[in-house]
Amino acid sequence: MQHHLADRVAWITGAASGIGAATAKRFAAEGAKLALTDINPEALDAIAAEIGGDVFTMTGDVSKKDDTVAAGRAIEEHFGKIDVLICNAGINRDTFAMKMSEDKWDLVLNINLKGTFLCCQAAFPAMMRNKFGRIVTTASVGALGNPGQANYSASKAGVIGLTKTLAIEWARYNITANCVAPGATMTPMLAGVPDKVKDEMLKGIPLGRFGTPEDIAAAHLFFCSPDAGYVSGQVLFIDGGMTTGA
Ligand SMILES: NC(=O)c1ccc[n+]([C@@H]2O[C@H](COP(=O)([O-])OP(=O)(O)OC[C@H]3O[C@@H](n4cnc5c(N)ncnc54)[C@H](O)[C@@H]3O)[C@@H](O)[C@H]2O)c1
Repeated sequence: MQHHLADRVAWITGAASGIGAATAKRFAAEGAKLALTDINPEALDAIAAEIGGDVFTMTGDVSKKDDTVAAGRAIEEHFGKIDVLICNAGINRDTFAMKMSEDKWDLVLNINLKGTFLCCQAAFPAMMRNKFGRIVTTASVGALGNPGQANYSASKAGVIGLTKTLAIEWARYNITANCVAPGATMTPMLAGVPDKVKDEMLKGIPLGRFGTPEDIAAAHLFFCSPDAGYVSGQVLFIDGGMTTGA
């Protein structure tokens, strides 16, 4: 069997749950060496133990520069390089815009947008030195606008602009930057949505089901595989057709 990520060192943020954990497992199966980070140490250890082998783990907050710089340095020290960065950590704190507190705005923008920026910056020196990098960020169908998600939507739209900019600025170092934009995906994040809202969401999905974390992991793999060497600055919606407007 061909391993698409043989010997690639992959840093995955928010790896302790949902999409990040599924991507870690898929990447391990594809031969990658894993550096997994998350703010939740117990859940992170559990995923690393499930995967087994030489999995490097580190606890940290993507919205804190000290944490991201320390993670980037520690991963490069441990494995000697960083080939892949999956910026997956993210949160939502939904409230209608009129009533949204400044705290909820700041928290979501800091983790989803600034956190993505800081991790890219932290991985950059290692990628630049090696003249190789594959960065995949995480937007959402919510980037197109969604009631109750002014903070989340703005953060995810910002991630798209950031990703396209990095695709231009860092191309000279053979670093690609692409973005996955999941639709409603069955993870703890979606589990928090009331059943009535989920029933309504399903009606807007032509494929008639929610996404799985593995659906998104497959897109992560594509962007980091040799087949995507000429793909950069792209946003891939993985949403069962939700954003067709059907
Ligand atoms: N599930 C969906 O329907 C959906 C849809 C679109 C986009 N997304 C995006 O996909 C990504 C993964 O979401 P998920 O559904 O797997 O969620 P999840 O809640 O299952 O996992 C998110 C992980 O990020 C970690 N995390 C949270 N804050 C952090 C911080 N400050 N620093 C480091 N780690 C932190 C959490 O501990 C958790 O392990 C997020 O960026 C999310 O916005 C999810």
